Amino acid sequence: MLAGQNYICGRSLATVTFLALKLGRPLFLEGEAGTGKTEIAKAIAAALGRRLIRLQCYEGLDAASAVYEWNFAAQMVAIRAAEATGTGAESLRTDLFGPEYLIERPLLQAMRPQDGGAPVLLIDEIDRTDEPFEAFLLEALGDFQVTIPELGTIKAPEPPIVILTSNRTREVHDALKRRCLYHWVDYPTFARETEILQARVPEAAAGLSREVVAFVQRLRGEDLFKRPGVAETIDWAKCLLALDVIALSPEVIADTLGAILKYQDDIARLQGSEAKRLLDDAKKALETA
Ligand SMILES: Nc1ncnc2c1ncn2[C@@H]1O[C@H](COP(=O)(O)OP(=O)(O)O)[C@@H](O)[C@H]1O
Ligand SMILES: [Mg+2]
Repeated sequence: MLAGQNYICGRSLATVTFLALKLGRPLFLEGEAGTGKTEIAKAIAAALGRRLIRLQCYEGLDAASAVYEWNFAAQMVAIRAAEATGTGAESLRTDLFGPEYLIERPLLQAMRPQDGGAPVLLIDEIDRTDEPFEAFLLEALGDFQVTIPELGTIKAPEPPIVILTSNRTREVHDALKRRCLYHWVDYPTFARETEILQARVPEAAAGLSREVVAFVQRLRGEDLFKRPGVAETIDWAKCLLALDVIALSPEVIADTLGAILKYQDDIARLQGSEAKRLLDDAKKALETA
């Protein structure tokens, strides 16, 4: 099913995904940036024909912006209009806290029935939020209902398919993990990454793809501040294609390093003989393979 969406993964990730769907448990995916955690949620939604609802986490994210907010600006306009036309204050009060003024945020959206079945709820990069929000999520994932004091309780007719991701900039609390099935998404092996590259950038020649992957894999073994993910491999291949490159050379690598390394210290490390050494290494490995 995932391969049908050009998502290439090993048996263990496929199995845990299958189980999460089968048992209706949230799936917690942890791993380095650019290893395909966000992408798998998109692939699952597309494959099942479900709507994808994404809650992008950030520092300071609170329940209000994750569940719902009242549209204050629109409420103010309504009040002013009522004052001007002399509409009764009574009717205004009930109307002001009605669905018309409710802004539904991702968690509430995910509890609404959708055509085609329960949506896929992606709670992305949860490690960026704080512990109080985690605790709140734990509760929300427990019963899939929210209570809005002015409107009452809204309960999901069918629980959404939940996928949480973390880049592990901090540890996520045990209690939340315990609710989920867990998988560590590692960098792919050489064979798998070549397959991903072929699926995502089919116009790249096989020889170049293999060189690109072999080089990036070696690069990940270096002591870098930020190691390149699969996203960077794909980006780099596209850059090389745009430059009509057919084979890697130290010069080409130096000219295009910005596609795979995003920190000046890392780029500086790779300048000079270092890139050539890695490339020679990669080519040697490809010859003997
Ligand atoms: N297993 C995979 N199969 C296909 N494409 C992948 C895979 N892993 C990563 N990618 C590609 O890498 C990009 C970045 O992956 P993403 O899911 O955003 O990483 P993460 O969320 O783990 O940081 C995706 O847009 C996709 O093109
Ligand atoms: Mg992501």
